[in-house]
This record gives sequence, C-alpha cells and structure tokens, in this order.
Amino acid sequence: MKICCLGAGYVGGPTMAMIAHKCPDITVTVADINEKRIAAWNSAELPVFEPGLDDIVQANRGRNLFFTSDMVPAIRDADIIFVSVGTPTKTYGTGSGKAADLKYIELCARMIAEHAEGPKLVVEKSTIPVRTAESLKRVLGANSRPGVTFDVLSNPEFLAEGTAIDDLNCPDRVLIGGESPAAIEKLVDVYANWIPRDRIITTNLWSSELSKLVANAFLAQRISSINSISALCEKTGANVDEVANAIGRDSRIGPKFLKASVGFGGSCFQKDLMNLVYLCEHFGLPDVARYWEQVTDMNDWQKRRFSSKIVTTLFNTVNGKRIAMFGFAFKKDTNDTRESAAIYVGRDLLEEQATLAIYDPKVSADQIFYDLQQPQTDADGKPNDKALICSDPYEAAKGAHGLAILTEWDSFKELDYQRIYDDMMKPAFLFDGRNILDHTELRKIGFEVFAIGQ
Ligand code: NAD
Ligand code: UGA
Repeated sequence: MKICCLGAGYVGGPTMAMIAHKCPDITVTVADINEKRIAAWNSAELPVFEPGLDDIVQANRGRNLFFTSDMVPAIRDADIIFVSVGTPTKTYGTGSGKAADLKYIELCARMIAEHAEGPKLVVEKSTIPVRTAESLKRVLGANSRPGVTFDVLSNPEFLAEGTAIDDLNCPDRVLIGGESPAAIEKLVDVYANWIPRDRIITTNLWSSELSKLVANAFLAQRISSINSISALCEKTGANVDEVANAIGRDSRIGPKFLKASVGFGGSCFQKDLMNLVYLCEHFGLPDVARYWEQVTDMNDWQKRRFSSKIVTTLFNTVNGKRIAMFGFAFKKDTNDTRESAAIYVGRDLLEEQATLAIYDPKVSADQIFYDLQQPQTDADGKPNDKALICSDPYEAAKGAHGLAILTEWDSFKELDYQRIYDDMMKPAFLFDGRNILDHTELRKIGFEVFAIGQ
C-alpha cells in the first residue's frame, strides 16, 4: 500500500512518520509545496521540534518514509491521500476573523482530481468545518478523469504539540468518519497496526468533522473557566492551583486542563473556536455562538490582565524599563509560537515603551522579531534596542526591572534565582504567568512575586 500526505507541517510530518514507523509494509510520502520545508525534513535539522521525532524520522526516512515537493507522482501513486494542510481563520471577505479559510483544502482537492489515475481514498486530516467533505466530494467529482473514483473520510488529528509522538503512539482514540464501510475499514486497518481496535471510533462523516471542533472548544473552555476563577482567587485570598486540585479530584470533572495561565495559545484553539462560532451563526444559532465566543473573550482578557499587571506593579510605567521575558513558545517542548500569549504580552509592553529582553530555549530570534512585528535593525543598521533576543536567561534578566515567565519550560525551574535577583534592579518584580516556580523561596530571596490566581 502507498500513502501520501499533502502538507508537511506540525501534523503531516509527525503523523506520517509514525504511520511509516508502525507500518513497515506501507510506503509513506509526505508532499508539500514549500520546498524549504521539505529540504528541512530531509536534513538533520527538522522544521518541527518535537521530543522523540528525530529518532523516528531518522529510523524510517529513505526506507518507507519520504519527503518531497514533487506532488504529482506522490498523488498519482498513492492509494490513500491524507490532506493535512493549514485551515487558518479567514482574514478577508465574508466570515473574516471567524470562518476557516479552506482555499488550501480546495487546491489540494483540485490537484488530486487532476492527477489521480485510479481509485483514491481521500482523508481529511486537517481540522475543517462540519460538512466540508460535501464540498470536497463535489470538487473531486467534477474534475476527475473518467473512471476515477474517490471515497472521502474524515480522520481528525488530536495530537498536542510537545507530546505529539506519545499522543500518536498511544492515542486516547482515533476517530474515523465516513459513508463507505469498505473505505472506513481500509483506514481502520492502517491504524490497527498499533492501536487497539476498541480505541478506533467510527462514525458518520459529520459527527467526525464536528467532534474535532467540539473537542478543542471543550479543552479551551476548561482553561478559560479556570483562568476566570484565577482572577476571583486574586481578590479573595483563594489559591487557584489549590482550587483546581480540589475540583479536579471529582472524577466527573477530572484533573487535566485546569492549569491557570497567562492564557492559552497555539495554532488551533482560537481558530477552531472562532470556526465553531461562525458555524453556529451560519446555522442560525446566535445564542450558541455567543456562548462559545466567551471562551476566547476570556482568554484575551487574561492575556491583557497579565500585561496590565506588569505595568501597574512597576509603578504604572514601564517606559524605558527592561522587562525580561522567559519563554516565547505557546507551551513547553515546542518551537511553535503561533498565537502564543507571549506575543500579545510582548506587544502590549512594547506599546508601553518597555525594552524587552527575551530568552526561549527553542524559538529563533527571526521568529520572535516576526511575531512582535519588530525590525531586526533600525534604519542605520543598528540592532533593535527595544526587543533584545538573549541566548541565556541570566543575560536576559541582567539589569531588568521585572521578570515575566511566559512559557512553562522545565529548565526555568532549575535556574539560580539568587544570581538572577542579584543582577536585577530593585525592587525585583517577578510575574509567574505559569505558576511553575517556588514562590516561597523566591520571596525569601527578596523578589516581589505576582502569580496567577494567588
Ligand atoms: P502547518 O502550517 O504546520 O502545515 C501545513 C502545511 O501545508 C504547510 O507546510 C504548507 O506549505 C502545506 N501546504 C499548503 N498548501 C498545500 C498544498 N496545496 N499541497 C501541499 N502542501 C500544502 O499546519 P499544521 O499545524 O500541521 O496544521 C494542519 C492542520 O491540522 C490544520 O487544519 C490544523 O488545524 C490541524 N491540526 C493541527 C494540530 C497541531 O498541533 N498543529 C493538531 C491537530 C490538528
Ligand atoms: C491542542 C489540543 O490539546 C489537541 O488535542 C489538538 O489536537 C490540538 O490543539 C489542535 O487541534 O491543534 P496544542 O494546542 O498543541 O493541542 O497544545 P495544548 O496542550 O492543548 O495547549 C494549548 C494551550 O493551552 C497552550 O498555550 C497551553 O499552555 C495552554 N494550557 C493548556 C493552559 O493554559 N492550561 C492547561 O491546563 C492546559
């Protein structure tokens, strides 16, 4: 059997690497129009940082795992074609700011129709609005050569970045939605190479498509719920981590996704929630739309609340003050910064005329400048002196008036905070946006600590 995947991103790359790893008899080709990205997948420096990914790619690349920008043969030869391209929020026209932009999905469908020579199983791996399969089938059907047939399945991906390899290796469930039992069975057989059959759920197409959006909405909702309570804890003397632990022990609530933070980030929660809101509006359910919109409103408020707290605590001005930011990725163990809370906090502080000194163990300086919409050099070619990218945390904290933790990297817990304190301006303020540090110890050293929900 031959599998091809269109889109070699955070999902396509790791997912296909795992299929190749677990199914040595299947040839897996990951194809992407971005030649630079494909070159990186074929190099020692993969474009995606994900614990455990390097080993799997190295073990299988060139054997039954291939990365290519030559789309046509990849499509022509495949029995199963996964579509794993981006589905960002539309930034123009109808539905701007809410609806999913399906242009990359449609382009894939047109390319598949043009080059397919035999029967193909087309699998939606990207996260898409419910009923996208309908459009996909129409585009495929209207543009295919005579005699070529297509089955379309929905097989959304539930991996989280930073734990993608574990999630793919041992998922809570695999979800496959479709109309043709034979097509469903064909894909079930692929996953059954390593996943117990009772964890492979099969449904109709629309349930599968919708379940993906709903899963992300429920996860994001939990974070916004606990973040809303973090503000109440700060007013009342309750401790949000203690509250989360107390409620999470109720097996009906459960302990996961109750960590209060500076706000959720990542490429998907915001976009998938807005997509759900748009769908509800589209189907004439404005009250349902408003309900889910509140989840992102609360998240925006939490991010703004954090940057305002820094400004107000530093005597209502950060103008000309150095603020060290530890972490820029949207969560630990990834180099991905999409929708990271650090971007919004950083932009707010720059707006307030602060100087940022940023350290992240995995995010590149280029990416940080891009996200902050900052030039790397001024008109005279001198380095930007408003956003300094530091190669170690001690350098970032040196001379800082305030230190903010934006990402929960484990390495931040191991730092020498006495040394950091000694090198900072006094009073030395520390804002733990992830509640990962030992605040009692920090206060003993002399820091003035602000923690979320405490
Ligand atoms: P990504 O931006 O990292 O990768 C998408 C890739 O598709 C890019 O490399 C792009 O060049 C390529 N592409 C675009 N058009 C193409 C075409 N016509 N042919 C071939 N390649 C093309 O995106 P991602 O994070 O991998 O997400 C992909 C989808 O998976 C999205 O719908 C997302 O919502 C969903 N998803 C993402 C995650 C995650 O953790 N990132 C998890 C689950 C689901
Ligand atoms: C999320 C989902 O967890 C995946 O199941 C889904 O497949 C994926 O979105 C997707 O569709 O893209 P991801 O965004 O990679 O995965 O990472 P999460 O672990 O969900 O974290 C998202 C954000 O929420 C991060 O900024 C994280 O720091 C924050 N978070 C998470 C909290 O603030 N508190 C928590 O308790 C958990």
